[in-house]
Amino acid sequence: MSAVTVREVTSADIDALVEFDATLFADDAWPATTWWAELAERPRREYLVLEQDGALLAYGGVDHGGESADIMTVAVVREAQGRGHGAAMLDALEEAAGRRGATGALLEVRADNAPALALYERAGWRQLHVRRRYYQPGDVDALILGKTLLTGPAERGTTEAFGNNAGGGEGE
Ligand SMILES: CC(C)(COP(=O)(O)OP(=O)(O)OC[C@H]1O[C@@H](n2cnc3c(N)ncnc32)[C@H](O)[C@@H]1OP(=O)(O)O)[C@@H](O)C(=O)NCCC(=O)NCCS
Repeated sequence: MSAVTVREVTSADIDALVEFDATLFADDAWPATTWWAELAERPRREYLVLEQDGALLAYGGVDHGGESADIMTVAVVREAQGRGHGAAMLDALEEAAGRRGATGALLEVRADNAPALALYERAGWRQLHVRRRYYQPGDVDALILGKTLLTGPAERGTTEAFGNNAGGGEGE
């Protein structure tokens, strides 16, 4: 088996991404029109995939908004979950944000998404804010998480850059 590689999403990936989104996000899945619109926002938006032997393992995106980036989505195809690809995807997105000058990043996650919350907490993200009953249907809260992105590994993983007044990432 060859190594896992990272590359940018292209329009040729959209059909596959729509299918994966439908299985992974249910009510919050993005239709093809949203993917086309997101790719049209490049280079401000950057979408990446992890793949191995031609098979797509994970995908995610970041909105480069200056000092503070927003993680737009992170997902791992079901059969590849639990093997560190989510953490690797998140790492790649944080690196992409840092390369474009962000000193911090925000994301939004459903309060009932235990695997995602565990992933983010382990990667040093911290809760900054709650949007009550944001996800409908279901009255599920949205949690806004933040992370300071610094070049020194020892300094990564705090939320000092944000205080308690963070706005939100969009999407998902
Ligand atoms: C959330 C998601 C991206 C995690 O990806 P993954 O590749 O399975 O996660 P990883 O293997 O990198 O695991 C990272 C950490 O997440 C946690 N985790 C992963 N799967 C988990 C599960 N099913 N239950 C609880 N925790 C879980 C673990 O704490 C793990 O840390 P570990 O190294 O101590 O085991 C994946 O489950 C997914 O795509 N879910 C559907 C889409 C989604 O909800 N995306 C997030 C939107 S905000």
